[in-house]
Amino acid sequence: MPSPRTTAVHPAWLPPGAFAALGGRRVVVAGDGALTSTVAAEVAAATAAHGGSWARLEVGAGTADADLVLTLAEDDPSNDADEGFRFMRDGGSAVVQAPTERGLLYGFFHVVRLGEDAFAGPDTDETHAPAAELRMIDHWDNVDVHPTMGQVERGYSGGSLFYASGRVRDDLSRLDAYARLLAAAGINRIAINNVNVHAREARLLTEDLAGVARIAAAFRPWGIRVHLSVSFASPTLLGGLSSNDPLDPEVAHWWVRAAARVWDLVPDFGGLVVKADSEGQPGPFAYGRTHADGANMLARAVAPYGGLVHWRAFVYDHRQDWRDRSTDRARAAYDHFAPLDGTFDENVVLQVKYGPLDFQAREPVSPVLAAMPATRLALELQVTQEYTGQQQHAVYLGPQWSAILRFRLAGGPEAGDDGTVAGLVAGSGGFAAVSNAGTDELWTGHPFAQANLYAYGRLAWDPLLDPSAILDEWVALTFPDAPVELGEALHAVLDTSWETYEMYTAPLGVGFMVRPGHHYGPDVDGYEYTPWGTYHFADRDGIGVDRTQATGTGYTGQYPAPWSDVYESLGTCPDELLLFFHHVPYSHVLRSGKTVIQHVYDTHSEGVERVEAMIAAWEPVAGLVDPAVAERVAERLAEQLRSAIEWRDQVRTYFFRKSGVPDEKGRRIF
Ligand code: GCU
Repeated sequence: MPSPRTTAVHPAWLPPGAFAALGGRRVVVAGDGALTSTVAAEVAAATAAHGGSWARLEVGAGTADADLVLTLAEDDPSNDADEGFRFMRDGGSAVVQAPTERGLLYGFFHVVRLGEDAFAGPDTDETHAPAAELRMIDHWDNVDVHPTMGQVERGYSGGSLFYASGRVRDDLSRLDAYARLLAAAGINRIAINNVNVHAREARLLTEDLAGVARIAAAFRPWGIRVHLSVSFASPTLLGGLSSNDPLDPEVAHWWVRAAARVWDLVPDFGGLVVKADSEGQPGPFAYGRTHADGANMLARAVAPYGGLVHWRAFVYDHRQDWRDRSTDRARAAYDHFAPLDGTFDENVVLQVKYGPLDFQAREPVSPVLAAMPATRLALELQVTQEYTGQQQHAVYLGPQWSAILRFRLAGGPEAGDDGTVAGLVAGSGGFAAVSNAGTDELWTGHPFAQANLYAYGRLAWDPLLDPSAILDEWVALTFPDAPVELGEALHAVLDTSWETYEMYTAPLGVGFMVRPGHHYGPDVDGYEYTPWGTYHFADRDGIGVDRTQATGTGYTGQYPAPWSDVYESLGTCPDELLLFFHHVPYSHVLRSGKTVIQHVYDTHSEGVERVEAMIAAWEPVAGLVDPAVAERVAERLAEQLRSAIEWRDQVRTYFFRKSGVPDEKGRRIF
């Protein structure tokens, strides 16, 4: 279902009204430099729109009359990595003081978020800084339109913001608006092409460098550094070499020269993203080398420039035999990477999907995140919603991400916050997520999916933020003049939407059950007899994957205590992950007191009822938003209801036919 493609720009969470509080005041911007000029231009536009005034002064100049001072610190230590700022409110006026220009930019957007609260309220003196230095968004954009994946792989919001007609767009003006939105959410790095690097896209690294430099120039004023996904086979593909062996000096030298050319044109280039030996992408295994050999060879080529290599841990056998129950895709990332802990160079970031499979609505947190203390790890999330409604369904992912980030994976209870997923990655490799933005006039296919992009940035900045409070921020910014009913309705629609989606799709953590290929809509056995390693093993007696050490694949053993035991035992495994870890009879009784089969029948009905309630909550307020937004939301909610009913009927019917156990509530089964 393609989204309309236009070049018009929707303001998303930065409409003019979001700047009313500061725009109506006397503002001073103090300091020099490109990012300070970005802030000054924002202030100039806001004050022009809302009747205030502004001046740009030297740092330390008298600012007595100002309501808001945005200033670089006088004793600027020029530590570019410092993105923090101080926010002071005193008797109705406010000061943002930052040691770096980046900090000033984030401090400015902090004031925008606060609105009138920046000036009203008790006096305060606060220090703000991001939890993670690396807050990256990844685009799965192809330069060419791919025959099966289209231009943006798993993109549900139109075409690519970067490429058109088989090359970097001539007109990149929309990137300025995109970069501004990302910066306001706190994102500071962007990978601009798909991790599946096809032949055309491989050439971004070489012959398209001028275009890459133009893209980097669009992001630079917003403090965002550009990264490229590269093919591990670039030396043969682009350089005419006979090998890509990471231990071959000629191969290493090819990469050294490639890096030199990139940084020559783009001095603040961020680095490389690599999907190697995964789903057909080339990698070091072909040469009998390890992933550390591959990653370190690239890391050494980019190290002189402060470049990073984001090396993905999404490595598994996608050609497995479904008859073979001993091979477990969930085990793969740990089995491949945990033994390599401590062998990666300092500028390698191992990018780990949050769960062991693939961005399902419910998975346990990946055990890799606890298994590699001597490696820089990044958490990878998926904003684009491949498996969570594809931006047809309203699914606010903030609560899912928050649950992942707060999950105490390592070190037992005494490790405290250091053992949470946030604690494990924030000071290490930080965060990466697949973007949901494209050329759709609303940026995202579902207008409410904008909230996911915003929430990702905010959680990468502060993983402990409350997702409901983030939604409040998003609503206040996006709909600054709307009455409270709109916010209430948006909470009613979105707060529990992730749970709702889970209810009408695959039950109890078993995952998938989607249509192969495009992954939209139900197909219970779609992947059951395929090589992809994502099975539910339903038969007439029961369902689920036995991943225990006692009788299954042993995956539970990859977890640290207490989780290895918690997941191993039927008595302690949480209901929502039951079928991820255990194969149980349909008569198995859950903690809720229901049998598994009755749970399937009930949740699928309730999921549909909840979608009906979402529509009922939204309809009375729909007239409060821009008609184009209202129209899109109405269309998407109707599709969500249709799809939820389809899921409900297929899943319930499938399990009735398999098990022969009737629904104790006697609802219609087909
Ligand atoms: C999923 C997705 C692919 C993607 C892959 C990845 O499998 O369906 O489109 O390439 O993840 O993360 O590399």
